[in-house]
Amino acid sequence: MKVTVVGAGNVGATVADVLAYREVANEIVLVDIKEGVAEGKALDIFEKSPITQYDSRTVGVTNDYARTANSDVVVITSGLPRKPGMSRDDLIGVNSGIVKSVVENVVKASPNCVIVIVSNPLDVMTYQAHLTSKFPRNRVIGMAGVLDTARYKAFIAEELNVSVKDVQAVLLGGHGDTMVPLPRYTTVGGIPVTELISEEKLNAIVERTKTGGGELVKLMGTSAWYAPGAAAAQMVEAIVKDQKRVFPVCVKLEGEYGINDCYLGVPVVLGKNGVEKVLELKLTKDEMALLQTSREHVLAVMKVLDGMK
Ligand code: LAC
Repeated sequence: MKVTVVGAGNVGATVADVLAYREVANEIVLVDIKEGVAEGKALDIFEKSPITQYDSRTVGVTNDYARTANSDVVVITSGLPRKPGMSRDDLIGVNSGIVKSVVENVVKASPNCVIVIVSNPLDVMTYQAHLTSKFPRNRVIGMAGVLDTARYKAFIAEELNVSVKDVQAVLLGGHGDTMVPLPRYTTVGGIPVTELISEEKLNAIVERTKTGGGELVKLMGTSAWYAPGAAAAQMVEAIVKDQKRVFPVCVKLEGEYGINDCYLGVPVVLGKNGVEKVLELKLTKDEMALLQTSREHVLAVMKVLDGMK
């Protein structure tokens, strides 16, 4: 199995590092446009391997897509991150061009790969990758829900002073402030979270989750990378090992949830073919209304992209 990670910034390098550490693939190719950056970070990850003990080999290249040929999975992290005060949508102008040119190169080198988009604005960059690659929907997906549920689970575990390992949750919608965490489907050791945390506190956790990316941008002056990188790596692992994991993933909806032709986060089964199944939940009226708001938000940004062509 071969995995390529495009973009050797903080997120891309973290993806490669987690993939190597977990020995998800024998060979991980890290690509960047800045001479020496991918080479240096890949070498650093290789030199760490005798310490933390893994045999995966990470190789860095400058824009050399021939070296990425026949990858099974390609993660795209290229593009600018947010600065304080910016929304993810503000990045569309610059990042859509970057994602388009990266996807063109990726498709030539690895026509059968699964593409995992991490660049922002996430849902619309996944749409951009679909337009450029013309891959079927199961092979063009976006990473957001694994990250957003991780934030949500971490806050719940902290509130209850329990292990993060015992929190299970799902979340719907776009990777933005309109995302829809679902307390009704959140459990702690099998117990509905609504029996353990008051509605008021749970609402505060939901709100913090929605703006979780922004909280980090404010603190650091740039966007996060440890959790985003590990989240993308977890999706890659599910695909490479055909694990059939159930994760919220950004995918093109084709009638599910009564929605057509919009990229949104929904729970799916992830295996060797990418998205193997979209799971449809029976939502309440209120939950459906929140999902529709998220859809409208993402659709508006998708239209901005269409208008740029
Ligand atoms: C975040 C960025 C990666 O949510 O979108 O941290």
